[in-house]
Amino acid sequence: KVEGSYALGIICADYPDRIFAVRKDSPLIIGAGQGENFIASDIPAILSRTRDIYRLKDGEIAVLTQDAVAFYNSDCESVTKKSEHIEWDIEAAEKGGFEHFMMKEIFEQPKAVRDTITPRIRNGRVVLDDITLTAEQLRRFTKICIVACGTAYHVGVVAKYAFEELLRIPVEVDVASEFRYRSPIIDAHTLMIIISQSGETADTLTAARRLRGLGCKIFAITNVLGSTAARESDGTLYIQAGPEVCVASTKAYTAQMVGAAFLALRLAQARGALSAEEVEKKFHDLECVPSLMETVLKRSWQDKEAARVFRRAHSALFLGRGVNSTTAAEGALKLKEISYLHAEAYAAGEMKHGPIALLEPGFPVVAIVPADHVHDKTISNIQECIARGATVIGVATDGDEDVVPLCSNVLWVPPVPEEFLVPLVAVVHLQMLARYVALDRGCDVDKPRNLAKSVTVE
Ligand code: M6R
Repeated sequence: KVEGSYALGIICADYPDRIFAVRKDSPLIIGAGQGENFIASDIPAILSRTRDIYRLKDGEIAVLTQDAVAFYNSDCESVTKKSEHIEWDIEAAEKGGFEHFMMKEIFEQPKAVRDTITPRIRNGRVVLDDITLTAEQLRRFTKICIVACGTAYHVGVVAKYAFEELLRIPVEVDVASEFRYRSPIIDAHTLMIIISQSGETADTLTAARRLRGLGCKIFAITNVLGSTAARESDGTLYIQAGPEVCVASTKAYTAQMVGAAFLALRLAQARGALSAEEVEKKFHDLECVPSLMETVLKRSWQDKEAARVFRRAHSALFLGRGVNSTTAAEGALKLKEISYLHAEAYAAGEMKHGPIALLEPGFPVVAIVPADHVHDKTISNIQECIARGATVIGVATDGDEDVVPLCSNVLWVPPVPEEFLVPLVAVVHLQMLARYVALDRGCDVDKPRNLAKSVTVE
């Protein structure tokens, strides 16, 4: 009868020697010790006590006593499970067996997106009730301001495209450190959205505090429960990405985009911009994203091969149009952040106004060119690059015959149901590409120099 996602350990006065455990969509493992057994959400928590674990599947039930563990399916029929012996040391266990946190977190993205979506579906219906602003408040806004830093800022820029198209109200996006010092036109009918993985970024918090005095409603999208951003806002949407350890943000980026999409849908619903059926259709389109990401993850060999293009490079240019000019910006940020290779991102149509001068034989260009309404324009931009001798890596939709003859490498993306969803899927290739380039250059991908995970100073 329980709905949503959960991992529960239950004790009951009638059975004082037992723990009952059950899960759905949230992690839960059982550790089998000597005269003691454990439940935990992850392996590192129990590794100092036992290396023999069982993984519960969705709906399965475990009953633990001091000396035994019994398993049942959701119909309470007994099932037999095989234990796994974990060989990893504690550090490797924290990384879930991956070489680096970055890799682990990139691979966790389908789950982060799924976990952000699942609690908002009940009985097959979309429920957006954690967006605590009232329908009346949501109707009143005449403008939206989004403020964030770094990768979270890129989430804001992608969100602007979706908000403006769906809601037809003006949306401004600022990096927080700039927003503070300009004179934005804001009143009590402005909705301010702050986006922050950590919820502790000083620039973002200070910008929000400045607006509070102007009577704005502030809404936070964050990953950290009880963070300052959440505490100081009128409403919070928590993404369910789980802890992000690598300094370079990956899973929080994609999960925050999903969070922003929910907010857009809730606003559209309240303001009558979309019917209930249209909201559900868009919501169900989002549900395809995790499996599309999984497809891209299976193609990471393409990113590894493409990374070779950067071996003799000093700089790189990322190009994209529309919402994917931001995918390009995020790709460039990831590359420079972890590989220390200079990278610049431009809206592809803007290239001829300056950056084209950078191009010379072998210069690496990464072009995001999905099958969208600006596809042919981006293809022309790729041709302009090739004419100057650049080596172009394309990020393109499966089956695109136009890109193959132009690009040295193609990072293939499966078709997505909506153009707005491309950034969520395409960025996975760019994260992996950055990682392979960084490894080639001998960089510490998890802890890049000069950077901190959470920037709590202005
Ligand atoms: O915790 P926040 O989302 O507020 O952090 C914002 C930026 O500092 C952060 O996204 C930074 O740009 C990342 N290192 C990028 O990968």
